[in-house]
Order: sequence, then structure tokens, then C-alpha cells
Amino acid sequence: MNRPTPPPLQPIGPRSYDEQTPNASRMYDYYLGGALNFAADRELAERAKTVLPVTPVLARLNRSWLRRVVNVCMDEGIDQFLDLGSGIPTVGNVHEIVERRAPDGRVVYVDYDSTAVSHAQKLLRGNKNATILHADIRDPDSVLGSPEAEALLDFSRPIGMLMVGIMLYVADEYDPRGLVATYRDRCAPGSLLPISVISADLVQHHDPETHRQLMDMVSVYDDASEQIHVRGYDEFVSYFDGMQLLEPGVVILPEWRPDGTAEYDSASPARWIGLGGMGRITGRTDGTA
Ligand SMILES: C[S@@+](CC[C@H](N)C(=O)[O-])C[C@H]1O[C@@H](n2cnc3c(N)ncnc32)[C@H](O)[C@@H]1O
Repeated sequence: MNRPTPPPLQPIGPRSYDEQTPNASRMYDYYLGGALNFAADRELAERAKTVLPVTPVLARLNRSWLRRVVNVCMDEGIDQFLDLGSGIPTVGNVHEIVERRAPDGRVVYVDYDSTAVSHAQKLLRGNKNATILHADIRDPDSVLGSPEAEALLDFSRPIGMLMVGIMLYVADEYDPRGLVATYRDRCAPGSLLPISVISADLVQHHDPETHRQLMDMVSVYDDASEQIHVRGYDEFVSYFDGMQLLEPGVVILPEWRPDGTAEYDSASPARWIGLGGMGRITGRTDGTA
């Protein structure tokens, strides 16, 4: 599939409601079997599945990884989370995992998609420990300085800064590595930063046919409101600069601390596409004490 001219860069800021333009949030919901999507989302998601049939498996691998990393953060004593690009609420939302293990745990979700935000608002009504912020993560001040973050999160204590399935939507022009560093520098020592992206490197080596399908799938997203940006392995590792990488380092998602649950087909070619890693802040990276 040819990729003629890439779509223009998306301006920074929260998105208003638009059911005509397919978007990443609702397409992801569709892959996961959710009902919060429209005809335009389903049509484009089906096109993505036609070129890369394992697309829904990729979504499930990422969602399973989210659950595992939240549990690992909690094993490490973390009870407050900032979930960047949280998506439409679905099975296994972060606040549900957190409140089962830490009834006073705090969660601030952030998404710029109005469908994700309105459904999360409904779900979280009356919940004093979790909220959602309608903001663009490429504008970190609007997230880190928001009344929601200030009310619920204590940045002087370790936090779980979740960047799961989000940095793949941040174009190089918006400096994803620098953005990670900005969020990192707000975190207290002991904080954990799980990040997952899509990478072409391993799939190209292990499964050239799936690599070709992946690149076609990326082109399909040219017709969505956000595009997918595939990252190199070494480039992704550099996102963890200034942090200590937890074992097993940067690996494909199913190999990052698998816990034996059968939420996806672990033999699927999708296994080679998603990469994940978790960084730990060992000291202040911004020069403050
Ligand atoms: C694939 S979903 C991931 C959801 C969830 N983090 C997970 O891993 O299951 C990506 C979400 O990121 C949101 N998103 C993409 N770019 C964003 C941005 N610049 N600011 C805020 N949200 C963004 C999309 O609206 C979508 O809901």
C-alpha cells in the first residue's frame, strides 16, 4: 500500500465530539470488543484488520500489559497513578485494579478524546479517589498543573506514571522522548514509568510478512484523527534515559513478566509488534533535592 502525503500534524489540545472522523480511542474500543464506537470507527478498524488481521490481538496484548504493569507498580508500594492516554473505559480499568488492592489509592486519567472523557466521567461519578482530565498530554503543563492532578496526586511521593499505548500517537515533531523526560522530571524518586509503543524492528527480523502488514496498517491510520508512529528499538530504549530499567528491560509485551493468564494468543504474530519497558526514578532528575 502506498502512503502518498502524510496527513498534517494535529494541533495540540482536547478534541471535541466528532463521530464522522474515526479515532484511535474508539477504534481501540472496537478491537477490544467494546460498544463505544461509531460506524466510521468500525469501518476504518475493519480496514486495519484486513491489512493486519492480528490488530485486535495487538490491542489485547497491550491491555494485558497495562494490567500487569499496574500490579507490578502496586507490588512496589505505589498507590497513585497518572494514566496518560487512558482511553475509553473497558474491562480492567486502572482504578478498578487499584481500589481492589488499595482502597484509598488515587487515579487521574487523562485523554483528549471527548468520547473517552464523557464515558469515564459517567463511570467515575461519586468516586472521590479517581477522576478524568480532558487534556492533551503533549501539553504537560495542562496535565501536571491541573486542579485534578493537584487535588488527587501527591508528587512528593512515588507515583505510577502510565504511558501505555499512548506514545505511538505522538509525532516526532512533538518530541516524544523530551515529553517523557518532562513527565519523568515531575516524579519523586521511587516512581515507576511503564511505556509501551509499536516497533517495526523485531517484527521485521522475525516475521517479514507481518512487518509488511503492519506498515500497511499504519497507513490506514492516515484516515483517522491520529496517526501511528512506529519506533525503533534503540530510540525507544532512549525514552528511559535518566531512569533505571526494571527487569526484563525493553522486550516484546508478552515477554514482560507474563503471569500465565490467557488473555491473548501468545503465539500470534502480533507478539513481535508491541514493545514495553518500565523505568524507575532513582533520584531527582531535575537537579532539585
Ligand atoms: C490505544 S488507546 C490506549 C488506552 C490505554 N492506555 C490502554 O493502554 O489500554 C490510546 C488513547 O490515547 C489517547 N490519545 C492519543 N493522543 C493523545 C494526546 N496527545 N493526549 C491525550 N490523549 C491522547 C487516545 O484518545 C486514546 O484514547
